[in-house]
Amino acid sequence: MKTTYARLRRTLGQLAYEKRYGVRTAELIELDKLGIAGEGRGYYVAASWRTLRRTLSRKEITPRDVFVDFGSGMGRMVLEAARFPFGRVVGVELSEDLHKIAEANVRRTRQRLLCRDIELLHGDVLTYQIPDDVSVAFFNNPFQGLVFATVIERLVASLDRNPRRLKIIYYNPVEERTVLDTGRATLARELVHARRRTAGTPFGLTKVFELR
Ligand SMILES: C[S@@+](CC[C@H](N)C(=O)[O-])C[C@H]1O[C@@H](n2cnc3c(N)ncnc32)[C@H](O)[C@@H]1O
Repeated sequence: MKTTYARLRRTLGQLAYEKRYGVRTAELIELDKLGIAGEGRGYYVAASWRTLRRTLSRKEITPRDVFVDFGSGMGRMVLEAARFPFGRVVGVELSEDLHKIAEANVRRTRQRLLCRDIELLHGDVLTYQIPDDVSVAFFNNPFQGLVFATVIERLVASLDRNPRRLKIIYYNPVEERTVLDTGRATLARELVHARRRTAGTPFGLTKVFELR
């Protein structure tokens, strides 16, 4: 009863947030409905609105920092990141439909955002050239297997080209082993983002890794 009430309150809170800012991000969509189902790809569902406010401190972000959401969907985390003083915020999304919704969401809220350099890219992350200044990489369990391993490998290669501090925020960290197996990552923080989580699974958790 208590949990149902808490969930209802959270859903109403999220809807109120969307109404207030005039954006649309709260849906659950299977990727086959978007015509982009594929091995290692799951579904569209946005991370919780407060994820970045719970994992990043405003003081640690400067205009030299660059945020990338790999699999940005309707752009909820792009909007969240742009409320921090990042120099640039990027979202890369495979589905054209979701990408267009993200563009509309950014258009509606741009005036309220701190970061004005927002780039939304439509395409496969595998065709995206990871910039050598990305300092926060966000994943909401967007893809698994070879695609995820390739992106992590490219992040490490980018660090080798331009040594710096790189944070990975991994929401529902299904493939955290891939991150740890680089031998370059340390777990900096772990938080529970869902009140009802199944113990022993990565769902309901967010993990923050520092890569060097
Ligand atoms: C769980 S949703 C997360 C959306 C967003 N990051 C958020 O938290 O609001 C995962 C997204 O990854 C996208 N995706 C899956 N495979 C992809 C790929 N290879 N390249 C780019 N985006 C991909 C999906 O279309 C989906 O929108």
